[in-house]
Amino acid sequence: MTATRGLEGIVAAETKISSIIDDTLTYVGYDIDDLTENATFEEVVYLLWHTRLPNKAELAELTQSLADNAEVPQAIFDQFKTYPLDTVHPMAALRSAISLLGVYDSEADEMSTEANYRKAIRLQAKIATVVTGFSRIRKGLEPIAPKPELGYAANFLYMLHGKEPAPIEIEAFNKALVLHADHELNASTFTARVCVATLSDVYSGITSAIGALKGPLHGGANEQVMKMLSEIGSLDNVENYIQTKLNNKEKIMGFGHRVYRKGDPRAKHLRVMSEKLTKLTGKPELYDMSVKIHDMIVEQKNLPANVDFFSASVYDSLGIEHDLFTPIFAVSRTSGWIAHILEQYANNRLIRPRAEYVGPGMQKYVSIEER
Ligand SMILES: CC(C)(COP(=O)(O)OP(=O)(O)OC[C@H]1O[C@@H](n2cnc3c(N)ncnc32)[C@H](O)[C@@H]1OP(=O)(O)O)[C@@H](O)C(=O)NCCC(=O)NCCS
Repeated sequence: MTATRGLEGIVAAETKISSIIDDTLTYVGYDIDDLTENATFEEVVYLLWHTRLPNKAELAELTQSLADNAEVPQAIFDQFKTYPLDTVHPMAALRSAISLLGVYDSEADEMSTEANYRKAIRLQAKIATVVTGFSRIRKGLEPIAPKPELGYAANFLYMLHGKEPAPIEIEAFNKALVLHADHELNASTFTARVCVATLSDVYSGITSAIGALKGPLHGGANEQVMKMLSEIGSLDNVENYIQTKLNNKEKIMGFGHRVYRKGDPRAKHLRVMSEKLTKLTGKPELYDMSVKIHDMIVEQKNLPANVDFFSASVYDSLGIEHDLFTPIFAVSRTSGWIAHILEQYANNRLIRPRAEYVGPGMQKYVSIEER
């Protein structure tokens, strides 16, 4: 038995939900480029959960169900108020809140397909309210009740900022949600599938996935990109800052990918939105800095930008706090996690790989007095 480090190249599941072939990402056979230009996030949620696009009535029904389930138990917000709000990371708060939502769902351990679908709706609806509610509570503000008739993307920004967003902001945020919705067997999706393959419940699966997404090698990279841009501060500082990091063999967040070789197909959409939005908000230097970093990394390391690189300046332009970037990734990716969880339940087998043992050979127990 020989271990494959990081399971690179191992095919660990069959899926009908999304695929990455020759650097093209598709959801159920639809090119991500096509969906990003044309689809709403709600349509993508339906697509991932039902493996087909909805008709008008089906989309209306899903939208209504998301609206009907957007409110969260007051206990979630009360719990937030007990946290050390100056220091707690929103991903830690989110991980705890999703787990707590399971405590308040009387159907949490009901494993029928219908009950799991109802939980899917509840989770997708409530996670937006949880993330925006946390952001408000830590600023000493009250959470804003959802206005679901705005649509998922617009309602999120409304609950976050307390005012209805402009059309360009809705367009950018909807695109970001569509682009982050699913990504084959990424680390957090694999985590969710491993968890529910024990026949554990949906809340446990999503809570585990949030834990995996939190890390800076996965979803946490987008916050780190913004941290880097803030540290660099101006276009003139880019060269020195990046060169020093490269000379020290440090990783540059937002670049590289386990699966893509030529480039992450999601990055170009966010690059376009970043250019537009940074101009509109009077921070074009943020985009110029990003492009300069991008060109240096491509030239010297031949590493293309991934989804996290330009999403950072897009979210910053939307007035979103930097430590909310990864929770927003989770809001979108919940749709994909749920799709994979439902797929796993439908054709389940426990996921239990082996390990290559590299420790000492057989040893005899020695009593504690003799050690
Ligand atoms: C995404 C990522 C974890 C993939 O990891 P991986 O497939 O295990 O690849 P490795 O970390 O083994 O990297 C392979 C080589 O490329 C280099 N490399 C990979 N990503 C790099 C980056 N962002 N900056 C600089 N060098 C990088 C590594 O240093 C390594 O070089 P070496 O062989 O000389 O040691 C990795 O590219 C990374 O850490 N990127 C930054 C974090 C990030 O943006 N994550 C979001 C992914 S969507």
